[in-house]
Amino acid sequence: MGMNSRIEAAIAQAVAVGQGRGAVPQRLSSALGYATAPGGARIRPTILTSVALACGDDQPKLTDAAASALELIHCASLVHDDLPCFDDADTRRGKPSVHKAYSEPLAVLTGDSLIVLAFEILARQSGLAPDRVAQMILILSQRTGMPGGICAGQGWESEAEIDLSAYHQAKTGALFIAATQMGAVAAGQEAEPWFELGARIGEAFQVADDLRDALYDADTLGKPVGQDDLHGRPNAVTLLGVQGAISRLKDILGGAIASIPSCRGEAQLADMVRRYAERLTPVAPNVAASRSNV
Ligand code: IPE
Ligand code: IPE
Ligand code: MG
Ligand code: MG
Repeated sequence: MGMNSRIEAAIAQAVAVGQGRGAVPQRLSSALGYATAPGGARIRPTILTSVALACGDDQPKLTDAAASALELIHCASLVHDDLPCFDDADTRRGKPSVHKAYSEPLAVLTGDSLIVLAFEILARQSGLAPDRVAQMILILSQRTGMPGGICAGQGWESEAEIDLSAYHQAKTGALFIAATQMGAVAAGQEAEPWFELGARIGEAFQVADDLRDALYDADTLGKPVGQDDLHGRPNAVTLLGVQGAISRLKDILGGAIASIPSCRGEAQLADMVRRYAERLTPVAPNVAASRSNV
């Protein structure tokens, strides 16, 4: 099985646990599926699985649980982020956002259910390797909540003054750090040496996201654009300009590759980061259009 199908299968299995069967609230059960599939780029579980493979992947079930748990948290964060009280976005991944397709109460509950489900999916593997599972639950909870996780990241948007680097590290970087560290831990390795790779990929991802938000149209992205300007949020493009942001992105990715800890699959992992770097680097929309015609 290729890595993509492995990840999709793991996510589908995890979501099915949350959806249940029989006497369950059908609309909420359906919304859990809607919020998680079809997915986006699945970049976080891909990084997690790639790191686990580079470290030997001796417990594939743990890797799959970790990859799906991480993606569930990400999907939950998007459902809540699109709500009218946050970014008020009508579309996500090319279709109506969850509160548009279902309702606001169901979107709140979908996000809540997915967050809790993520930890259940990890806990269910505790018979297999209790120490690794406990460590992964700790990593994922710290990267999800306060003071350093996604909740903190979203919380910065309610402050009068934003500490840009703390905001980005918590909002976007946190789940990339979780990705590299959980991948290592799932395969029985130490988490700490994998912090820097996750942090750097996260930083690069945020710069790339700021570029896409400024350069692309909503059809290409499948979600509203110009959001940073609209909400007056500081971002890499207003700070550095388009060219400046692109060269910053390249610098960060170079640093990311250099920071890969030594492990069996070091070379393949560097290749994976290089491939993502190419995909992440936005091209001007007219170039993108002519490329897609090739
Ligand atoms: C979007 O993440 C949210 C940010 C943290 C900027 P992705 O671009 O990974 O979204 P999907 O999962 O591919 O839709
Ligand atoms: C959303 O961030 C990512 C979360 C951590 C919830 P943004 O609001 O910047 O991303 P998009 O543009 O909605 O994907
Ligand atoms: Mg937002
Ligand atoms: Mg948003």
